[in-house]
Amino acid sequence: MKEKLELLERRGAEAEQGGGVARLAAQHDKGKLSARERLDVLLDEGSFVELDRFVTHRSSDFGLDGQRIYGDGVVTGYGRIDGRLVYVFSQDFTVFGGSLSEAHAEKICKIMDLAMRNGAPVVGLNDSGGARIQEGVVSLGAYADIFLRNTLASGVIPQISAILGPCAGGAVYSPAITDFIYMVRGTSYMFVTGPNVVKTVTHEDVTMEQLGGADTHAATSGIAHFTHDSELASLQAIRDLFRFIPSNNLDEPPRGSGGDPRDRRDDALLDLVPDNPNKPYDMHEIVRRVVDDGEFYEVQRDFGQNLLCGFAHLGGFSVGVVANQPAVLAGVLDIAASVKGARFIRFCDAFNIPLVTFEDVPGFLPGTAQEHGGIIKHGAKLLFAYCEATVPKLTVITRKAYGGAYDVMSSKHIRGDYNVAWPTAEIAVMGPKGAVEILFRRDIAGADDPQDATDRKILEYRDKFAHPYVAAGRGYLDDIIDPRETRPRLIDALDTLRTKRDRNPSKKHGNIPL
Ligand code: HXC
Repeated sequence: MKEKLELLERRGAEAEQGGGVARLAAQHDKGKLSARERLDVLLDEGSFVELDRFVTHRSSDFGLDGQRIYGDGVVTGYGRIDGRLVYVFSQDFTVFGGSLSEAHAEKICKIMDLAMRNGAPVVGLNDSGGARIQEGVVSLGAYADIFLRNTLASGVIPQISAILGPCAGGAVYSPAITDFIYMVRGTSYMFVTGPNVVKTVTHEDVTMEQLGGADTHAATSGIAHFTHDSELASLQAIRDLFRFIPSNNLDEPPRGSGGDPRDRRDDALLDLVPDNPNKPYDMHEIVRRVVDDGEFYEVQRDFGQNLLCGFAHLGGFSVGVVANQPAVLAGVLDIAASVKGARFIRFCDAFNIPLVTFEDVPGFLPGTAQEHGGIIKHGAKLLFAYCEATVPKLTVITRKAYGGAYDVMSSKHIRGDYNVAWPTAEIAVMGPKGAVEILFRRDIAGADDPQDATDRKILEYRDKFAHPYVAAGRGYLDDIIDPRETRPRLIDALDTLRTKRDRNPSKKHGNIPL
């Protein structure tokens, strides 16, 4: 037995070495952690249990047969985040560039299958040169095995991807199917074709960072949901995400500490919306003052900034906050905001996280760029996502709720459960100026003083429409509330909705306008 244990120890140590000291040093020189160091940061101390550490590749051509390295470029297993079970894979760039072989993919598929069976999230740490070139089509097929599992697991267990090195070619499509992508500035890249191919095909000169770096995907493409300056910050942020999301679609989300008093009123909420309806303000401020301890875990902070999405706790309940942002583009809905909001809402709905919407929206963004870019179908995504969602839906209209955007933003008509407005709310088909110019164009043109005539009509219009009482009179709003009461009112409503039962008609799946 003693000898056998010594052999096990030797082989275990070999497996831990990955691609060897020199390659590990090169990894560190790039400012990157090793596959195992990353797991140490991600998981609760000492909780990682490795599976398949003695797996090796099966290739026998192109010079690989002599080099079998235990683990074959990926460390897989399970561990805990705040005591909760998660399955993990961490690609090891020091072993054949973390490239994906048949055996490497089988290890990933094994933990994905276990995660599905046991109702636990999967966190994938990606750092890979893509398909193992020596394995040819076998490697391509192995990727497809993962894509299929990503798709089947979508909406059943949360899937989180950290991109911590290269992620190129078809390999990008596994993270792309997962729920959230974390990237690190300066070391992570995602692109379907790299700078050299781009140069050959389109003659464009572009660096890796410009083409597919963290900031590009955070602000321009919207592919990355979170970006950080270091791997440590990125991995810590993934741990933080788990404070808001459940382990699977049948579980309740975790509760917050509940330390912030449920009945806390906030006088500052009285002064945040400016008297001038055209003046911007920062919706972050309202969100932070209402939620527990001012903590807002914002998703896609740098993309579609006219709509805020993120997680928070409210009276200890985990909620998904969706909020128009009047400080950016006056809070209009455009293509980016619609797509961002729709995906976030669908995540929350799939995982039993109630939606709290703060609304101040002047409508959809006009212009050829938006129309030709397909705002009709993209705006429809947001509408579809809100309509389809059966989780508790709470809405607070702080100021404008104009036009189609009124309907879209979790209105009563699309199954809003608790819809309230502040006294500052204006609910109308459009803003006063636009309405007056359409309705009274001839009168204004014929008036002695057209400006004065316009101003008078605007006052008349504001008096008739620019308030929440017509909507409240119809029951489209459940109440008009004192802004200071927003937090206790929302928490009370969430309490009543804990036992909400609602379901959509039975079907294979809907056909969201993609
Ligand atoms: C096998 C690979 C590899 C790969 C890298 N290596 N990529 N081995 N298959 N795909 C090996 C290298 O030979 C090298 O081995 C080690 O990993 C480190 O690679 P370097 O090139 O030295 O590292 P670096 O300079 O940092 O460059 C990293 C890189 C580059 C940008 C990722 O290696 C690269 O361009 N690799 C190929 C990327 C690619 O085209 N992959 C296929 C994409 S298509 P040694 O022994 O010297 O340490 C794809 C399809 C997916 O993935 C299918 C889905 C449908």
